[in-house]
Amino acid sequence: MINVALPKGRLADKTLKLMTEAGILENVTDAGRKLVFEDEKSGVCYFLVKPWDVPVYVERGIADVGVAGKDVLLENAPDVYELMDLKTGKCRMCVCAENGYRDEPSKRLRVATKFVNCSKSYYASVGREIEVIKLNGSIELAPLLNMSDVIVDLVETGTTLKENDMGVITVISEISARLIANKASYRFKRAEIDRLTSKLGDVINA
Ligand code: PRP
Repeated sequence: MINVALPKGRLADKTLKLMTEAGILENVTDAGRKLVFEDEKSGVCYFLVKPWDVPVYVERGIADVGVAGKDVLLENAPDVYELMDLKTGKCRMCVCAENGYRDEPSKRLRVATKFVNCSKSYYASVGREIEVIKLNGSIELAPLLNMSDVIVDLVETGTTLKENDMGVITVISEISARLIANKASYRFKRAEIDRLTSKLGDVINA
């Protein structure tokens, strides 16, 4: 059996569809509240976890492989192999602000974000002093209520920004879902993992 950690939420449908198309999973039905699924025929056991937790399961070897957003990998830098760009779940990590926002470069910038490490390293790279305000969601609210000057957040369709009269100032990074592997599993279950990546590659590059 190969153990696979898959993300719940936004990426779930896309990931399960990809796995099914690649013939890695069969009979994927509405997940409901069940969390662990065994596919005897293909020898895959998969479980659904919060997107931020996928690398935790993979790093600890509970899952041999997993699907994680590049955003989570950049933020937490887990000790895993990044095997493949799955080319789904595409979005961009951006600095955004209210339309009409004027930066005052001499002032310390207040940045609201889920991505504390990414924000710090981006602003360090451009030599700007910041105060990070860590939030867990609805980040766009922070500048609207004048808690922050800008946000560092993911932009997919741009709808959230548009509906809140905000826009992108800078793109920090292109984001997509990645297949990651536990380092020991990659040595000891190499054949199974290679089979999996080759099936996924066939679908992605079709
Ligand atoms: C994400 C992200 C933005 C939004 C961008 O939030 O943080 O708020 O999606 O998507 P869009 O460009 O297609 O509008 P999510 O919906 O995951 O919820 P959250 O606010 O709780 O983080």
